[in-house]
Amino acid sequence: MGQAGSFFEEVVKEAPIISVVGSLNVDLTFRVPRFPGPGETLMASQALTAFGGKGANQAVAAARAGARVRMIGCLGNDEPGKRYRDYLAGESIDHAGVLAGAGPTGTAFITVDGEGENTIVVHPGANHELTEAKMDGLVSHFRDSAVTLLQLECPLDAVVRAAGVAKEAGATLIFNPSPWDPESMERNIPFDILIVNEREEEGLRSGNGMACIQERCEAIIVTRGAQSTRVLTEGRTLEVEPPSVSPVDTVGAGDTFAGVFALAHAEGLGLLDSVRMANTAAALATLKLGAQEAMPSRAEIDDMLSRTTG
Ligand code: RIB
Repeated sequence: MGQAGSFFEEVVKEAPIISVVGSLNVDLTFRVPRFPGPGETLMASQALTAFGGKGANQAVAAARAGARVRMIGCLGNDEPGKRYRDYLAGESIDHAGVLAGAGPTGTAFITVDGEGENTIVVHPGANHELTEAKMDGLVSHFRDSAVTLLQLECPLDAVVRAAGVAKEAGATLIFNPSPWDPESMERNIPFDILIVNEREEEGLRSGNGMACIQERCEAIIVTRGAQSTRVLTEGRTLEVEPPSVSPVDTVGAGDTFAGVFALAHAEGLGLLDSVRMANTAAALATLKLGAQEAMPSRAEIDDMLSRTTG
């Protein structure tokens, strides 16, 4: 296993380091006029095979926005896994913390309808080989990270262990509990900031844990697509309007938000300015089919920010 630390020598040294623990999938995306019903066959007007997975999406979003990123996860020891490693290197992402599993690289089957809404089915494959014990062997990949980002497409026990390791290393912990698992709120994950979408927020509220979760973290951020993003912090609810765009595909928009928010926070921007930057990146990410295809560079984010915030 490669040593963390040397990978970034040729990348900008001052940029903050972000560790992302999470899934890496190959996404098969089909554009359909509407979602198929049971037993129905539909013709897709467009098909795309591209790299995805919530963890890797967040890693790519943060790297394109200017972070030095360490990816921690598990790919299959197969052709898609090898291609994914080359691709991560091309995005200047350190993948020495990505293990090679015995199972196949994770796959996601995605349909996107005429409104840009989607359904996703994931076969986790090697992603589910990331265990608590394996996380203990990856401690060096958390070193010097300003922020560690976590989601829930890898086994919960591994995520809980990663959170502990990240905290011991002194990082701010940003947790995006997606796909939603109510048990994750009962495991005392020491997150500083929680990022949820509306569906996940409903889960938080139905578990009756919203108030007590608010007490134990700096902020809960609720992304709501084209509607204002809610920021629950210090007993108040603040709102940040996203820029208006005509989305083609919203897959990966939430991941873009999380990755760019992490970078902005690590750079020392305040909560609302970080949300503004993340909203802008997420809006830009919806303009093409595919999770990572339209994820913007820092220059593209700054350009849109300067046009939309005056
Ligand atoms: O959040 C979008 C991602 O969810 C897709 O890239 C897919 O791989 C699934 O993990």
